[in-house]
Amino acid sequence: MNRVLVIGATGRVGRQVVSQLANAGLPVRAMTRNPDSSGFASPVEVMRGDLGFPETLDRCLEGIDTIFLVWSAPPAAVAPALNEITRHARRIVFLSAPLKTPHPLFQQPNPHRVVVEKIEQRIETSGLEWTFLRPGMFATNALDWWAPQIRAGNVVRWPYAEVPSAPIHEKDIAAVAVLALCENGHAGAEYVLTGPQSLTHNEQVATIARVIGRSLHIEEISPDEWRHECLQTWPANAVNMLLDAWAAAIGRPAFVTSTVAELTGAPAHTFLDWATDHAGEFRA
Ligand SMILES: NC(=O)c1ccc[n+]([C@@H]2O[C@H](COP(=O)([O-])OP(=O)(O)OC[C@H]3O[C@@H](n4cnc5c(N)ncnc54)[C@H](OP(=O)(O)O)[C@@H]3O)[C@@H](O)[C@H]2O)c1
Repeated sequence: MNRVLVIGATGRVGRQVVSQLANAGLPVRAMTRNPDSSGFASPVEVMRGDLGFPETLDRCLEGIDTIFLVWSAPPAAVAPALNEITRHARRIVFLSAPLKTPHPLFQQPNPHRVVVEKIEQRIETSGLEWTFLRPGMFATNALDWWAPQIRAGNVVRWPYAEVPSAPIHEKDIAAVAVLALCENGHAGAEYVLTGPQSLTHNEQVATIARVIGRSLHIEEISPDEWRHECLQTWPANAVNMLLDAWAAAIGRPAFVTSTVAELTGAPAHTFLDWATDHAGEFRA
């Protein structure tokens, strides 16, 4: 039986991977920088580790043969961290992005993309058995983007109200991750994962409104206004990355795949399913 270390275990996708592995009765170790506040309970084993400090990885990797990797550390840490991982593990599943999909939403240059490409190149030449997950927009972005405004009122100030995407439920990304972590037959696979429907920002907010029983609408603001407001709280790279992606994708239907259903045997969750699962986080 594979013994899995989840790096990024407290994040939106990693937490689902941990819980799906544990629910299946599989041994799982969760790595976090803050075990005391991680919220995991037995049988999940929790260990302190930081990708930025490779000396902390050795203990986390002891007895591990399979890794789920979410990268959230400075670029300079890529080589030392992957060297440590390669010394211990046999298989890695990396949470990447649709870097090779010819849709404008996924093809705008940005600094994070450069880091992800560097990680992929290192993994490909590491000798590890690898699988790359390439999800499009996460449905859970809606929590960061809109939940504070929705908790405070009925208007969401947002740019590009009509740009479509196919938001994917974190449960579906995790379900594919668990297959790739635990089954044979996924080595060298690059799975482009999306939700089942193309929905504009307007349609996504309308779906949340339906679920929480409120009348919400987007008040469209200019990209410059949005940039100015967001730069108070979000990193400039993330803000510019989103604006470039949305500007390029306006007027094009979202890229939709059926990979989740084909691999898991169950239909991908809709945005309505996702909003229902997270309704409490939008209520005041
Ligand atoms: N959002 C999207 O639409 C989208 C689409 C495609 C791909 N992606 C990719 O998805 C990834 C983010 O996944 P997510 O949303 O699940 O993550 P997340 O919720 O942002 O969580 C980040 C995780 O990284 C961990 N972390 C942060 N710094 C760390 C460090 N120095 N060493 C070890 N762990 C560290 C955090 O753990 P602790 O704080 O507990 O240590 C946390 O578990 C990114 O690589 C992004 O490019 C996102």
